[in-house]
Amino acid sequence: MKQWWKEAVVYQIYTKSYYDTNGDGIGDLQGIIRKLDYIQSLGATVIWLNPIYKSPDVDNGYDISDYQNIDERYGTLSDFKELLSEVHKRGMRLIMDMVLNHTSDEHAWFQESRKSKDNPYRDFYIWRPEKNGKEPNNWGNYFYEGRGSAWEYDETTREYYLHNYSRKMPDLNWDNIELKKAMCRMMRWWLDLGVDGFRMDAINRLVKPRGLPDSPNPPTPPVGIHGYVVDRTMCANRPGIHELLHELNEEVFSRYDIMVVGETGNVNAAIAMDYVQEEREEIDMVFHFEIAKNPVLVNAVQFKEIQRRWYHVIEQHGWITQYLSNHDTPRQVSWFGDDKEYRYESATMLAALMHTHPGTVYIYQGEEIGMTNVDFPSIEYYNEKYTVGKYQTMVESGVDPETALNSLKRTSRDNDRTPMQWNSREHAGFTSGTPWMHVNPNYPEINTESEEHAEKSVLRFYRTLIAMRKEHPIMVYGTYRQILEEEEHLIIYERAYQDEKWLIICNFYGRQEKLPEVAAAAIDTPEKKLLLSNYHNVEEETLIRPYETRIYRIR
Ligand code: GLC
Ligand code: CA
Repeated sequence: MKQWWKEAVVYQIYTKSYYDTNGDGIGDLQGIIRKLDYIQSLGATVIWLNPIYKSPDVDNGYDISDYQNIDERYGTLSDFKELLSEVHKRGMRLIMDMVLNHTSDEHAWFQESRKSKDNPYRDFYIWRPEKNGKEPNNWGNYFYEGRGSAWEYDETTREYYLHNYSRKMPDLNWDNIELKKAMCRMMRWWLDLGVDGFRMDAINRLVKPRGLPDSPNPPTPPVGIHGYVVDRTMCANRPGIHELLHELNEEVFSRYDIMVVGETGNVNAAIAMDYVQEEREEIDMVFHFEIAKNPVLVNAVQFKEIQRRWYHVIEQHGWITQYLSNHDTPRQVSWFGDDKEYRYESATMLAALMHTHPGTVYIYQGEEIGMTNVDFPSIEYYNEKYTVGKYQTMVESGVDPETALNSLKRTSRDNDRTPMQWNSREHAGFTSGTPWMHVNPNYPEINTESEEHAEKSVLRFYRTLIAMRKEHPIMVYGTYRQILEEEEHLIIYERAYQDEKWLIICNFYGRQEKLPEVAAAAIDTPEKKLLLSNYHNVEEETLIRPYETRIYRIR
């Protein structure tokens, strides 16, 4: 079935690093408003905002202390309404990040909850007494914070509360009916304001395993975390999660014309099917971690195998996402491509790969100008919880600081969080003050202004691709069939829709390849037309140059 959100090209904005209008060094909502024409010129149809709610900001806004207010760093509710109306005026839509797994410990609910065991909000969170003089179980927190446990002892009532992430982010108890009602009311409040959907944070982790058993796995290195086990599977896809999502769908989602995309770690295509099949009425699509698989780099054969499995979800009446990076990953051109010699070629090949695969496409801010990883000289430059926590743990366990830092650099989530590079002026034109986080020093060469005029422009390539997607339904609704699944360097596939057929060739690596016979035969037709390529001209049809991509219409 056709849906606007299947056709969407979503542009993800990390507000804090996008554009600062009042000189405090922090991106803000007015900054997004000023850049809407730029986003529109790119062709994006939906904007996804990372959390902008009121927050103490220990995890860049994923620790929410008030769901119905905007953090003053970013602006006010009236700025938000202005943004929403400006987005709508331009024919675009806006979705919010929705964090339902945990709140900040500064949220009023938690403040109440910790007061006494019989407080009406006690049960909004997960409290347990000690077990044999220790934490209630062996779970470790995902941020390697403190000594590593996922439990924090609270003096007032002498019990522990669960926090899978930071101790300042207590997990919520979704068995509590009052909590569920409050969350539904809150989500409807945003939708009534006109918001067009949600990106649901860690959505498959809301329901915890019955009895909160120990993880059977051995303690997770680094050893500094004192024997706790960081096991992200413990709370993923537990019995009850589908019933809960179906309920949220009935109570909230189905009552509006919106899109809902869930962030789901520990999910493969088979598991995802149960979240996204239309007839199950849960959510529309999920972000899986099989390709943007920080810290593991997948190769071309694995990429193809993963895409084949996920295409099956579409064949079974579900829908999928296509993305290579977000605020939790390295920059895609640095991770999957070559950010030095072939920055333009690899950034554009990866773009073509995403936009010609079936699924809704997500672009992370800066990706459209080929922004790269950053190489900061010391840990003080880094900010995000995971890098800092893991670094400290490693150093405490005796790892040499330089080695620890080097092992984390390439995968740090901060690679994607450096300020957006607008121009070659000071701080990349991001702020007139001091940016909250250091700008990538390569901004004089890589920025939106230079991309406008560059001979080889990643930005213009994105614009062309997105415009093509609007013009050619085959890119969204066409069937998908790979050619030469086991070929190790080239990703070649056909899309077909009504009378039309396309053949797409992507060289996943920086070495020239010979086009295999079958593919050469497929383009050997008088009807063939080269629609787009990231090289000026095709000199020899059967030679595929480093990171080359070609999109052919063959029928
Ligand atoms: C998600 C977010 C990440 C955050 C975590 C906890 O994985 O994408 O940035 O740290 O949830 O909310
Ligand atoms: Ca600001």
